[in-house]
Amino acid sequence: MPGSHLPHAPAVSVADARTALLKRAARDAMDYLEGEDTRSVAPSAKAVAALCALRGPLPPGPTSAETVLHLLHEYGSPATVAKTAGRFFGFVNGGCLPAALAASWLVGTWDQNAAHHIQSPVAAQLEETAIEWVREMLGLPKGTGGAVVTGATMANFSALAAARHALLARAGWDVEADGLFGAPPITVVIGEEAHPSVTKALGLLGMGRKRVVKVPVDGQGRMRADALPHLDAQTILCLQAGNVNTGAFDPAAAICPIARAAGAWIHVDGAFGLWAAASPEYKRLTPGFEQADSWATDAHKWPNIGYDCGLALVRDAEMLRAAMSIHAPYLVHGETRDPSDYNPELSRRARGVELWAGLRSLGRSGMANIVERTSAHARRFAQGLHEAGYKILNDVVINQVLVSFGSPEKTLATIARLQEEGTCWCGSTVWQGHTAMRISVSSWATNKDDVERSLAAMLKAAGQQAG
Ligand SMILES: Cc1ncc(COP(=O)(O)O)c(C=O)c1O
Repeated sequence: MPGSHLPHAPAVSVADARTALLKRAARDAMDYLEGEDTRSVAPSAKAVAALCALRGPLPPGPTSAETVLHLLHEYGSPATVAKTAGRFFGFVNGGCLPAALAASWLVGTWDQNAAHHIQSPVAAQLEETAIEWVREMLGLPKGTGGAVVTGATMANFSALAAARHALLARAGWDVEADGLFGAPPITVVIGEEAHPSVTKALGLLGMGRKRVVKVPVDGQGRMRADALPHLDAQTILCLQAGNVNTGAFDPAAAICPIARAAGAWIHVDGAFGLWAAASPEYKRLTPGFEQADSWATDAHKWPNIGYDCGLALVRDAEMLRAAMSIHAPYLVHGETRDPSDYNPELSRRARGVELWAGLRSLGRSGMANIVERTSAHARRFAQGLHEAGYKILNDVVINQVLVSFGSPEKTLATIARLQEEGTCWCGSTVWQGHTAMRISVSSWATNKDDVERSLAAMLKAAGQQAG
């Protein structure tokens, strides 16, 4: 009998027990979402302390799946940071679109390994379709290929691996076979305000976190086109579309023609900002970036696909393939695209299905609408804070706002009070020497009421601080 060898063989069939469990998981999930409006965005200290119930040694024997789920909902749900309600403005965190969330349930149920077409035709095909949709929305050249990875860090890593391959192959060096010891040198040029994930990726690739030429930036963090160093065919130039603090864009239209003429490889870290290209209103910020050779972006940021989901896109996809492909007699390749040829991983989650589902639900106008709506909310925050006498430190060009409430101490105390009070959540940063609160409006779920409630909470928290 199926399942009779299991410990504590259930009276009901395995299939019935599983159905009941999944229904209960769905009820718990809905219960969680129903409480989103009243939940404090940061979990209480009590809820975090109660997580100790989930610690302890691995039990010597099995626990029923119902008990496991109960433990998760009872102790896990209250210790989450409430991201679904649209009042989390920390880091650059999107929400998760209903279609992407529902797709992730189904994908989990399918239990696909998205390494090869033969292991999951649906995962391989939807991923390929989604990559093409993203290419189109971002206005990137036809023929660009890519990989669906865990986020912009791995997207930067993957795209820069393709760049490393291309530049060294040009110099007659096979980096995948022979490594970097004794290889011809490559110069990497980045802006002074490049995101640390770019330097991390360079470190992972053996090119060194510090072995870079840094280009000075302006007061918004934009690379200064007039300060570019010498570029040549052995240079990787890393531009940025959307600074994590200010949202500012490097002047790609001025820089890219120079870099292309020099034969440099241009890489763009556009973790969130590149999605501005999907909006008729905001695409004025992105001209020139389409001239690059590779791009890194996140689908778990502005497109709100849910974690984890990023994309590495490469104009000459063969360069990515050369850096990533993996072969063994048992790894049977088909006629169609095999994801593992382009990805750093072999076995992997079918996150491309969630990407496909979220983008299909949005369509072009839905994506544009998220960019436009969240940016309008950011402007409203900036206006409300400015009118109350607080200093906005950046030009609010997209969805990012930096505000100072006065001294560093007062700004940090305001942020701490705001997080404790729980209406919304914002983090801190230091922008070019000034301590600031960051507001990143990235969730599809944020509405005008969320903005007004959050603004009131910010002003109240600031008003409670001395100075
Ligand atoms: C410009 C930029 N690049 C890279 C990253 C890293 O993205 P991820 O956390 O998805 O790896 C971020 C994160 O905010 C970012 O803003």
